[in-house]
Amino acid sequence: MKRLNVNIDHIATIRQARRTNEPNPVSAAVICELAGADGITTHLRSDRRHIQDYDLIALKQVVVTHLNVEMAATDEMVEIASRVKPDVVTLVPERPQEVTTEGGLDVIANLKDIKKAVDALRANGIFVGLFIDPDIKQIRAAAKMKVFQVELCTANYAHLCESPGSATVRNTKEIQAEIERIKKASKVAANAGINVAAGHGLTYRNIGPIASIQEIQEFNIGHNIIARSALVGLDQAVREMIAAIRST
Ligand code: PXP
Repeated sequence: MKRLNVNIDHIATIRQARRTNEPNPVSAAVICELAGADGITTHLRSDRRHIQDYDLIALKQVVVTHLNVEMAATDEMVEIASRVKPDVVTLVPERPQEVTTEGGLDVIANLKDIKKAVDALRANGIFVGLFIDPDIKQIRAAAKMKVFQVELCTANYAHLCESPGSATVRNTKEIQAEIERIKKASKVAANAGINVAAGHGLTYRNIGPIASIQEIQEFNIGHNIIARSALVGLDQAVREMIAAIRST
């Protein structure tokens, strides 16, 4: 069955807007799990703009499903992950001024640093995933490192589907080509024995074609679920996304 990990970072974004103690991302994680989420994803950014180190420690104690922590491949992050020991660490690229993660890791260009982080995390008993673009060369580089999972970046797909200010989902040849690219990448990864996940920019509106790709078994979705939860409640927002994923 296809799995949904809810990224709860933006619960912490609301809290950090006032540097206060609410809403609590740990409470949100529990609500997501009770609504049927298969896991919780969170990104400990180097600038700590949302999730804080203490959140990670509390999440590790409370999450009973599956904790996936996204982080940059730096010595600081590897040290934290090795202490906290989440179920999975997904290595992602990070640029200080970016609004959100902008694309996948360039595994080929950053081979040395990524391999160092992968080896160190694995030595601490942590499964490691790499967030990469749906690019065959990147998948082959990830396969050489024998990572447990790749998460295919769907940002380009999402960008092509929807524009700011409009909930209309386009259906263009370009979008079809991007879906084919993601499909092909998923097959190559699955044939190499790597678990395939997908995420970034996925919404209730655009998830359908991606959820119907057989090889993709896990989805990491944050902004759209948390945004909807502000209007309909987190329990309902999570249930609606699970239904959207599993109805394909
Ligand atoms: N996957 C990765 C690797 C990410 O960096 C993010 C954003 O933190 C997501 C998934 C979730 O993206 P979104 O918030 O657009 O659903």
